[in-house]
Amino acid sequence: MPTIKKKRLKLKKKNFTILILSICLIIFCITKITQTITNFINNTKEKEIKEETTKNKEKEPKKEKTKEEIKLEKLENIDKKIDYFKYENIDRYLAYKEKNKTLSMTEVIINVNIGLDNEYYTNTKEAENQNKYYILVNKYNYLTKDYVPKNLENVSLQYARSGMQLVDYVKNAFEKMAKDAKKEGLSLIVTSGYRSYSYQNELYNGYVKLDGQKDADTYSARAGFSEHQTGLAADIYNGKTSYTTFEQTKEFNWMQENAHKYGFILRYPKDKEHITGYKYESWHYRYVGEKIAKYIKENNITYEEYYIKFIENKNIEE
Ligand code: DAL
Ligand code: ZN
Repeated sequence: MPTIKKKRLKLKKKNFTILILSICLIIFCITKITQTITNFINNTKEKEIKEETTKNKEKEPKKEKTKEEIKLEKLENIDKKIDYFKYENIDRYLAYKEKNKTLSMTEVIINVNIGLDNEYYTNTKEAENQNKYYILVNKYNYLTKDYVPKNLENVSLQYARSGMQLVDYVKNAFEKMAKDAKKEGLSLIVTSGYRSYSYQNELYNGYVKLDGQKDADTYSARAGFSEHQTGLAADIYNGKTSYTTFEQTKEFNWMQENAHKYGFILRYPKDKEHITGYKYESWHYRYVGEKIAKYIKENNITYEEYYIKFIENKNIEE
């Protein structure tokens, strides 16, 4: 009997184990199935959302670039980098770049701001900064008939032909320079200083008679457009040879080395005719102050370029 009891007990234990294992298996299976179903539902939802977003995006109209944005792109978005970029000149920059493909965008902007995309003596305006040492007078910026600079003074006869006038501080700077040159045995003499509108008119008309307007325009300014009317410019010679051969004198070499220290620049340099609008003039010097003169000399630029970069539309220290 005890053996039968034992056997029964054993059987019961076995069945119980099987039951437990079966329950575990069922629970495991149910969990797995639930997980798979949940994942499937989530994935489908995600897919639907994605599809919906793509569809909506496709439905949205593509944002067209504005004309101005396209233009700015062509100009390499340069306005953000250059403070003398003028938005109102944007079409002129594009047209000028098209005609002058080898120029950098900076050069294009400077040249257009000078006015070089227009013929000389077109698109002219009355010069700003009148009676200031940094005024710009050229083929695009004029002085009126009645403009006479303040504080004109006669240059000492030691350093000028008779009756030569310059604005007082320019006269002082010139005399100081001429005095220092004299210490080295050199002679700097003003042969033409301030010129009135009417005198410039006579001069220019005389040259037109002599050489015709086209040629005259390459070396003489029309009345109102001459820097001599500012009282800040002087034609210099050595008192012996003609001013037109000034380049061949020791005085010229001295000026090359020293003029900027007294605030003078060679206003119409060689190879800059396309910017200044005038043939090289070794004798014509313009007072711009020592700081500007130094910069122009060191960077080999014209006053036009300097003006656009650092003076136009800016507050200048007096
Ligand atoms: N010779 C210079 C350009 C003038 O006439 O002012
Ligand atoms: Zn001159």
